[in-house]
Order: sequence, then structure tokens, then C-alpha cells
Amino acid sequence: MDKNRKYFSTTPIYYVNDVPHIGHAYPTVAADVITRYFKQKGYDARLLTGTDEHGAKIAEAAKKHGKEPKEYTDEISEEFKKTWRELNIDYIRFIRTTDEDHIKVAQTFLQKLYDKGAIDPKPRLYKGLYCVGHEKFMSPEELVDGICPDHKIKPIEHSEKNYYLKLIDYQDWLKEVILSGELNIKPESKRNEILGKIKQGLEDISISRVSLEWGIPLPFDKTHTSYVWIEALINYYTYGSQNNFWPADLHLVGKDILWFHTVIWPIMLHAIGEELPKQIFAHGFFTINGQKMSKTIGNVISPADLVAKYGVDGTRYVLLAAFPFGDDGDFGWEILDRIYTADLSNGLGNLVSRIYKLFTNHTYDHQIQPAVGENSPWVESYKLLIEDLQFSIALDIIRKEIRDIDVEINKIKPWELQLEDQKFFLQRIIPRILLLAKLLQPFLPETAEKILKQFSGQIKSAPPLFPRLR
Ligand code: MSP
Repeated sequence: MDKNRKYFSTTPIYYVNDVPHIGHAYPTVAADVITRYFKQKGYDARLLTGTDEHGAKIAEAAKKHGKEPKEYTDEISEEFKKTWRELNIDYIRFIRTTDEDHIKVAQTFLQKLYDKGAIDPKPRLYKGLYCVGHEKFMSPEELVDGICPDHKIKPIEHSEKNYYLKLIDYQDWLKEVILSGELNIKPESKRNEILGKIKQGLEDISISRVSLEWGIPLPFDKTHTSYVWIEALINYYTYGSQNNFWPADLHLVGKDILWFHTVIWPIMLHAIGEELPKQIFAHGFFTINGQKMSKTIGNVISPADLVAKYGVDGTRYVLLAAFPFGDDGDFGWEILDRIYTADLSNGLGNLVSRIYKLFTNHTYDHQIQPAVGENSPWVESYKLLIEDLQFSIALDIIRKEIRDIDVEINKIKPWELQLEDQKFFLQRIIPRILLLAKLLQPFLPETAEKILKQFSGQIKSAPPLFPRLR
């Protein structure tokens, strides 16, 4: 693949009976930031996102709504598109796993797996306990008193003949590519966890169902449909293979689904002779005020709630500034309010408005210098941290620069200077602010543009960038 290309993905989302919530927004905003960052750097960077629409879980949800699965997923995928528009997510394609091209690519992929001998041609009898919530079989150890502890439902006993993907055949290969770094799993702690599990030995997995109609038929045996996870993983390849954009540079996934992305997916690709994604990054999970987010507790936060309070850019920022990406963390309105107020209202917003006020005192007969200092060591560190997806730590660097500029302003008190000296001062400070705007652009695309407009004298007055919270 061309060196100047970057291909990023978030996981396609299930939508069951739910409104889009901040658990969905969190990885999507992160992926958008990294995509915009590389675009700004001149790359042809593309982001793929979408919805995962097959499987028992969706079929059940549709039924509950008295709808056909297709009709139901038509509506819900629109909900997600709307949410991503609200958050200014700049994706190249919103893929639905019910899209015709995906079904075709998935079937070709499955046929190849079969032809290469990665799928056992003889279906095997499978008996197990299937949790519809997880869309996976549960081991007895994972259950608490026979109940799935995450979904509080009793798994369904399931016994039928299924096709199997022969994971065991590939376990040594997989261990090697992880150890050699060819398959790059991040963060390090998660890589070690996965490696530990692989060392215990893999088991072949069932990849088909006969009892479930709402799925993609296996090309080599149409009486079976593909297990939803297997075909959903192929979504990344559907876009990539059709656009000369494979392999992916990064799959951004929640830690709950790391196994699928670091064990099953690489084996599927290797089995058909395809290249592996360059990196798989697992982000953490968050709680709301220390509690799991749940409808029963009533603490679900929707992206629209956040946008109503912090604006689009504010929402994008507070989500990623709250705690290190990759760690678990806690969200709560107080935490988010504090970040918004400190970093955006009092920090960047206040800085821009103070300097803009002085700027409007002058009629400029000369151009303000563009951003300066791009090669300073702190900017280099900032960029490396972003490329490493360490968003909150990268933002610490920005906070420090804003504080430094504030300190300088307070020391020099430019409002007390003669007009001419004031002008010199502004000529020195404004380029530093423009650099901040440029660096923050991936997080704050609209704000960055507003700042540029303000200091190029294109507008006469400007409302505060980040109004105070009430
Ligand atoms: N459909 C599967 C993914 C298939 S990939 C081939 C799925 N969907 S999901 O809707 O349940 O989750 C979508 C993404 O959101 C996952 O990466 C998941 O980890 C993430 N999150 C959902 N709730 C979350 C939190 N509370 N916290 C952080 N991320 C969360 O899994």
C-alpha cells in the first residue's frame, strides 16, 4: 500500500434497543481525531465505521419492535449516521454489514477459507450455552449461577451441527507474529494478556448456524448462515479490498472484543493469504460516577446530551482529555464539566478572547505571521503522543503551552503598552496561538477554523469560543 495512505477503523456497532451512547462515541471520536491528524499531515487518511446488523440479538430486537430485521436496521443505522454528523465525524464510508457489497465480499472470503482448508469440511456437533447478549458461547466458568453476569440472562442451550474454523492449526504461527511484532497489539498490557491466553492453547470455533436465518448464507452450504462475528470482522476488508486500501493501519477496538480482533481475525486473514492489520489498539472501558453505565441505573449519557452542554468540539475534547486512552476511567458530569471549564472556557477560550480584544484595537497594515514553532521539541513530543494514541497526555502539553502564554501576558500586561509596542507583542503571541489552533484542529475542527478567521481579520466581532457553563 502507498506510504502516504492511512486506513483506520472503529468497530461496527450493534444497536439493540438502545440510543447511541457515549460508549459508542468514545472510540469513534478517537478514531476521527487520529484520521484528521494524518489528513492534516498530508496523508490520504480514511476512517471506516458502521453498524453490525446480523445475528440473533438484532433479530430479537427487531421482533420486539414488531419489525422485520431489515426495516429495523434501516432505521437504526440512520440514528448512528445522525449521531456521527452531530459529532463531526469525518468517515469515508459508513458500512452496514447488510450492504450488498459486504455480503458479497464476506461470502468470497468464507469460500476462500473453505478452499484453503481452514474450515473443516465436515460439520461438527456443537453443544453449548449461547448468550444472545454477547452473541457468543459461554464457558461454565463465565456464568454465575447459570446466568450471564453481564446481561443477567440465562444462556440458551444450543445443540446443532456447525462448521468449524480450525484455529488450532494456526496457533504457533499466531504466537510468532505477535512475538515478532508483525502483529502489533497495544497497549502492552493487553498484548501480554492475549499472548498468555494463546499460550494456553486455542480451540477451533464454530462459525455457522443452521437455526438462525438472519445472517449471511455460507457460500459452500446455504443451509447455514455465518456466525455474526466472523462475517462482521470482514467489514474492514470489504472497504479495504475494494478500494486498494488493505491492510488497515489500525483497528480501534474496546478491550471486550480484543480476542476476536487479535486471534480470530488475523488467523482468517493469514489463512487466505492476506496481509494483517498493522496495529490493533484496545481502549478501556469507563464507568459513570464509578458505576457501570446502564439503562436500569438510569445513568446512560447520550452524545446529544454532551453536545447540548459542551458543543461539538467541547464534547470531542472532554471525552479524550478525561483519562489515558487504553486505561479504564470514569466519566461523570462533574469530571467533564471540570475539564471543559479549565481547559476550554478558562484555558484556550479565554486566551483567544483576551488576545482578540487587543487585536481589534488595531487596524493591520501588515499580515500576522502564520503559526510558528512547529519544529519545537514540545510540538514533536505532542505529535508523537498523538500518533501513539496518547490523547490525554498529548493534551497536557497543550495545557502547559496555554499556561505559559498566559503567564507571559500577565507579566507583560500588553493592555498597558503603547499601541506600537502592543502591536509587536501581538505579532509575537498570535502566531503561537495559531500554532495551538493547528495542533488542536483534529480535536476541535470548528474552533481551529474560527481562531484562524478571527486572527486573519475576517470577522468584526467574535462570541466566546467556549461559553461558561451555567
Ligand atoms: N458489533 C460488535 C463489534 C464487531 S467488530 C467486527 C460490538 N458492538 S458494540 O456496539 O457492542 O460495541 C461497539 C464498540 O463500543 C466496541 O469497541 C465497544 O468496546 C465500545 N464500547 C461500548 N460500550 C463501552 C463503554 N462503556 N466504554 C468504552 N467503550 C465501550 O462489540
